[in-house]
Amino acid sequence: MTLIEVRDHDHPLLGDIVRIADETLGAGLYDVPSLRAAAGAPSATLLAATSEAGVVGWGYGEELSGDRSWYAQFGDRALACASGARVVSVRELAVVESHQGRGMGRALAEAVLAWARRRGAERAIAAAWLSPAPRTSAPLFERLGFQRLGVAAAPYEADSRERGWRCRFCGGPCTCQAAFYGLALSP
Ligand SMILES: CC(C)(COP(=O)(O)OP(=O)(O)OC[C@H]1O[C@@H](n2cnc3c(N)ncnc32)[C@H](O)[C@@H]1OP(=O)(O)O)[C@@H](O)C(=O)NCCC(=O)NCCS
Repeated sequence: MTLIEVRDHDHPLLGDIVRIADETLGAGLYDVPSLRAAAGAPSATLLAATSEAGVVGWGYGEELSGDRSWYAQFGDRALACASGARVVSVRELAVVESHQGRGMGRALAEAVLAWARRRGAERAIAAAWLSPAPRTSAPLFERLGFQRLGVAAAPYEADSRERGWRCRFCGGPCTCQAAFYGLALSP
């Protein structure tokens, strides 16, 4: 497996990532323009995991800025954790089903955490989508030392209506639960 840092001009890679997002999460959550913006932002990192089969996974991390009120639905402890000064969110992790369980999710998450530490981030956070997928990211975050600080009933519903994301499992706007995780980063 190789990890590649995706740049905003890497059009074939961005297309592969959209395909994997559609397949693992459901259509409409990501498109090439939004991922191109993420790849070009200095406050974000977009990574692709490749194998002999080509691109089989991706991950995305971003340093938070501005309003954090979305995290209030996970409870006070989650909101306090997300409200720190230098907080990186592990925004997305996805590996195609045929390649899950081989350490790619862990490698992508660790690469995002390494990037966060290089930036001097003090904390990492993540919202683990608690879908009926064969594997979710919650056990992965726990193995990496993240602490579960709250659960929200349907945190993606409003956003999925707005963006037209059809959750792979709900078949329409996503009403899956999600769990909030936080991790203190030592330098
Ligand atoms: C979640 C996902 C990214 C994980 O990627 P992966 O390549 O399958 O995960 P890995 O093989 O790296 O396993 C990660 C760790 O989680 C552990 N783990 C995974 N599922 C587990 C389970 N059900 N119970 C206990 N531990 C589990 C593994 O043992 C491994 O820990 P280790 O490296 O210490 O042994 C991937 O399965 C996926 O894309 N799922 C569907 C989409 C999704 O839910 N994405 C996350 C959105 S927030």
